Amino acid sequence: MIEKSMSGSTATQTGDAPVRELVRASTRLILEQQAPSGAYPASPSFSAYAGYSWFRDGSYIADAMSAAGEIESAERFFDWCSAVLTSRADQIRHIVEESRAGRPPSDEHMMPTRFLLDGSEGNDDWWDFQLDGYGTWLWALAEHHTRHGRSLDRWTDAIALTVDYLSCSWERPCYDWWEEFAEHVHVSTLGCIAAGLSGIAAMEHLDRERKSAALTATSSIRRRVETDGVRARHLTKWLGTEAVDASLLALIAPMNFLDPLSPIGGETIAAIEDQLTVNNGVHRYLTDTYYGGGQWPLLSCFLGLAQESAGNRSRALELLEWAASTAEDNGDLPEQVEEHLLDAAHLQPWIDRWGPSASPLLWSHAMFIRLAAALGITKHPHTPHSRPQTNDKGL
Ligand code: BGC
Repeated sequence: MIEKSMSGSTATQTGDAPVRELVRASTRLILEQQAPSGAYPASPSFSAYAGYSWFRDGSYIADAMSAAGEIESAERFFDWCSAVLTSRADQIRHIVEESRAGRPPSDEHMMPTRFLLDGSEGNDDWWDFQLDGYGTWLWALAEHHTRHGRSLDRWTDAIALTVDYLSCSWERPCYDWWEEFAEHVHVSTLGCIAAGLSGIAAMEHLDRERKSAALTATSSIRRRVETDGVRARHLTKWLGTEAVDASLLALIAPMNFLDPLSPIGGETIAAIEDQLTVNNGVHRYLTDTYYGGGQWPLLSCFLGLAQESAGNRSRALELLEWAASTAEDNGDLPEQVEEHLLDAAHLQPWIDRWGPSASPLLWSHAMFIRLAAALGITKHPHTPHSRPQTNDKGL
């Protein structure tokens, strides 16, 4: 276990004004960087990400912008996702037909995780087959609709394609949030898919057949997670391991897949606090070596969201404050910081390969906005949580 220390303070040391200022600067940065197509670039300057938009990053960014009242920006991103999907309708229908016929296409023929800002695929090799982002975009749409009462009609075709794609693919192993370990079925990926399918099914937007397919897949995912994705009373990184991963926090909040007050919710937060958190900075997972395995401000914000939803406001404020402390002099929030590395020997090889790690990372800015909103420090149009009925395990 790695050592950690937590102060017992109950308010931000810096006060709300600097937090509000960083939220304003973050919102401005995201608006400035949003492409005319609606895509949010993951990081405008980092060599390996520049020019690309991810469904995962972008959907959390859109959710943060929606929570901040930036309705048009969020919807422009949803338009971009919709165009990406509908322009590939034939490919998606083919995947669905073949999968239903028992001949699932190989991973290279599945949908990529990222696209160029104009919606095309680009020529760079990537760890592309990841399913979570498609669930997260459905979830973000449902949250936006609930929050602002906006119609989902203009995305109907893209929603239907996504529901069909996920309903027939969710059981497949694929790369995780960190674009690694393609041989496993990842619990956070399953949770993102279930949150998306159940969220959109609750919006009464789907035809009867699709709604039933979405709800059937959601129940099967919950059963699978309960059976194979819980060990030592907490959620696990993938099915069948005991390890945890900080991406699991998103399933507690903001995605509401797991009840924060359930025993499994509480133990999952505790395991990530104990195993992955050092002085308020959160690591991805214990054996991480990417850029030496540093601490990710966006993950401290996810931990803050989970703690806030479990009623631990003072802990959430500490985490928000730590995330703010990682801002560079110009206000940019990085992907990760090097204050505490899990494997320092791996830092330089990554710098040699791709240059210094990503900064600014728009997803870091978005999670800061989202946590500040959840804490009521900045604008937070109320989102009634629409949790499906869960069992006594909180799943
Ligand atoms: C992370 C992904 C992220 C991508 C773009 C990668 O290093 O592992 O989760 O989507 O960067 O930000």
